Amino acid sequence: MPVPSILFPADPLNPRRPDPHFAWEARLIRELGGENLLVDHDALLAGHAEAAVRWLPRGCGPLWYRGWMLPSARYAEFAAALTARGGNLLTSPPGYASAHELPGWYGVFEGATPPSAWIPTTGALPPTPEELAEAVARLGGSGPAIVKDYVKSRKHEWHEACYLPELADLAAVGRVVRRFVELQGEFLAGGVVLRRYEEFEREGGPNGAGGPDRNGGDAAVGTGSAGAAGAAGGERRAVEARVWWLDGRPVLVGPHPDAPHLQVEPELTEVSALVRRLGCRFVTTDLASRADGSGWRVVEVGDGQVSDLPRGIDASGLLASLIAA
Ligand SMILES: Nc1ncnc2c1ncn2[C@@H]1O[C@H](COP(=O)(O)OP(=O)(O)OP(=O)(O)O)[C@@H](O)[C@H]1O
Ligand SMILES: [Mg+2]
Repeated sequence: MPVPSILFPADPLNPRRPDPHFAWEARLIRELGGENLLVDHDALLAGHAEAAVRWLPRGCGPLWYRGWMLPSARYAEFAAALTARGGNLLTSPPGYASAHELPGWYGVFEGATPPSAWIPTTGALPPTPEELAEAVARLGGSGPAIVKDYVKSRKHEWHEACYLPELADLAAVGRVVRRFVELQGEFLAGGVVLRRYEEFEREGGPNGAGGPDRNGGDAAVGTGSAGAAGAAGGERRAVEARVWWLDGRPVLVGPHPDAPHLQVEPELTEVSALVRRLGCRFVTTDLASRADGSGWRVVEVGDGQVSDLPRGIDASGLLASLIAA
């Protein structure tokens, strides 16, 4: 059985080397006895998949990708161009779309993840007020929520383009959603997703207590007042674990890349069963603990090929599993 090679995006400034962001992973693959191959990410994004794989040898066999996120349509072109060269991406285009986009994984994880409703959009046009009102109604019509697209949020513009303090205030929901769509611009993935806001444990200790208060004395964090806690949410992050799954097994449990210094040990029994049900070989799940201690929640699911690894993590077990898979 041929062993998989790993595709990395090339450095745009020096196409014979991996992109600097992935250089340490590529080096580790080589140290583990694996093979790296380079693809042209800019060409992939531009819709020129054949050109993007022009440096690959013919008959390159089984392949994993480790690189920047690709829209699902671009990933499908990538897979086809590799097939034409005798390569075989081990995650199929439908498998990629179902782990990468919320509507693809939501049905499997419903109940273990915040309730969500989505509105497909065309181009960069925001949903109409009627579409928004209908999505709000599907979420119960009131309470705090967040907005994101099928893949990403604008969590760094929390108040402006992410957090919805009250779904019943449709005018305010419309304003934040329109700003979100405007800021995403041509990068808006799939459509607009509204998700009920849940209170998670935050940086600084359980319920946000015990740590330095960077929110000007917002003592309501974690006290059950979702509005006030959400008001702080952009500045004091939920503590998340990123779990890397290969063939239904957790091969690496680490911090979220945004907070690589925070170690968390999530309970995985329920999530394991859901990941197996999703049926994708290589995925990540970001997990956060509910602030009231009532258990772990799936914040989001991702395709393992395009999930970022936190700086400084020991990824040798994960990468060794990939080249042995
Ligand atoms: N339903 C929710 N309730 C409370 N907080 C949430 C909710 N959804 C997201 N958040 C907060 O917003 C952050 C960003 O959300 P999410 O992870 O879905 O988007 P993202 O932009 O894809 O992030 P990532 O950098 O992990 O890819 C989360 O890390 C979490 O702190
Ligand atoms: Mg996230």
